[in-house]
Amino acid sequence: MKQFQAIPLQTIEKSVITKNFLKDSRSLEGFIGVLRHIIPMTLSSRKLAFYNMFLDFLRVICLKIISNNQKQRQELMVSDSDFAHLLLQLDMATAIDNRVVLHSKYCEAKQFRPLKKQLCHYQFIVQLIAYYKHNDSQAPIGNAWKKMIREKKLDYEIRLCETLINLEKFEVGKKIKSPFSESYYTGSGENAFNNYTKQEFINYVTLIGETTALKNVLDIGCGFGNYIDALTVNNPAISVTGIELNPEVAASTKQKFKDNGRVTIVNNSIFNYQSNDKFDLILLNYVLFYFTHDEKVRLFKHLNSMLSEGGRILVCQYYSGIENMKVSLSSILGDTSLSKKIEIYYANKISYANTLWNNTVDVFKEAERFDKFCDILSSKGFSIYRICPADRFYYSFFIEITRQGEQSQ
Ligand SMILES: C[S@@+](CC[C@H](N)C(=O)[O-])C[C@H]1O[C@@H](n2cnc3c(N)ncnc32)[C@H](O)[C@@H]1O
Repeated sequence: MKQFQAIPLQTIEKSVITKNFLKDSRSLEGFIGVLRHIIPMTLSSRKLAFYNMFLDFLRVICLKIISNNQKQRQELMVSDSDFAHLLLQLDMATAIDNRVVLHSKYCEAKQFRPLKKQLCHYQFIVQLIAYYKHNDSQAPIGNAWKKMIREKKLDYEIRLCETLINLEKFEVGKKIKSPFSESYYTGSGENAFNNYTKQEFINYVTLIGETTALKNVLDIGCGFGNYIDALTVNNPAISVTGIELNPEVAASTKQKFKDNGRVTIVNNSIFNYQSNDKFDLILLNYVLFYFTHDEKVRLFKHLNSMLSEGGRILVCQYYSGIENMKVSLSSILGDTSLSKKIEIYYANKISYANTLWNNTVDVFKEAERFDKFCDILSSKGFSIYRICPADRFYYSFFIEITRQGEQSQ
């Protein structure tokens, strides 16, 4: 088994990028499309087929957005918008000056139309979502797909599609009202954790534990407490305080840990939480997009007062726009196989749709941006020490943060 490693940010930044396969792989989707007809459909190849359809699903959504925003076309198609970035990633448009121009194959008699194959893939994913939600045994999707859904092998992905289809309501300059309860997003996080991140998290905490005594941990926006569970099961010396804003989610998590004397769940905002305790490890897993820039500045000031000397902050988060860093990291980690590159390729594209969603839905304040995040950290006396992928797709990352000057401890 490959040894677990987290790579210092400085090493990633110094690594030379040779060929950026991840940025420019236009023929890849065609190749995967053909492959699915000639190789047996194993779980992995079916997942790849799913991701191929996912990109077409997003393309159809983009065309619907353009059709619905004809009057705001000028603003929609400026090249520095989240929407334009998504169009470029999906290879649907070209950037010319400060605008993006949709490829002519999508424009027909002043209408915007997807290609036939793209529409079929979109409709298939809509059926998958319907089966996932209603368990309708008559759904026309084939038994193998039904089995995958029943066995929860596509949970996170289908929930993501179920979320992103709401981008069809996108209106320039407006927020979309979230169609889901808060616990829906928290539940999606739970699926992602169980399917992808759990083992990496356990490994990362073990790595930190080699140099830092971990006794007292704070989990901010702890949701249903998956990370707390993994921490306490694997580390009998650790006590954890979970802070959760949402009353229903907090109540459910409190109930889950009611017999565990090492876990305290507090239903409060982190901004109102004060403690005399110092924490050796502070977790921020998929929570930063709930805060504005100014709130994050306040947050890190607050965390500085609660972090023990030599303590660590561990963030788990996804970002679009960090392809170069992913290329460097994957080459340092020896993740250079074709299958790995394909997985990263799909995850990259999908992250742009997630960025658009996080900047558009009313429950989130703004999508995370890696460069801005680094600026906030350095303004508050922190810096990134090490990074590693939090899942095999390089979708999310664990980012280990220390006070400046404390990295050698
Ligand atoms: C997407 S969920 C992630 C849950 C968990 N960390 C995980 O990764 O599975 C983010 C959680 O942060 C909570 N949250 C948002 N703002 C918060 C705040 N100011 N203080 C504490 N929790 C907050 C939300 O209610 C939500 O349950």
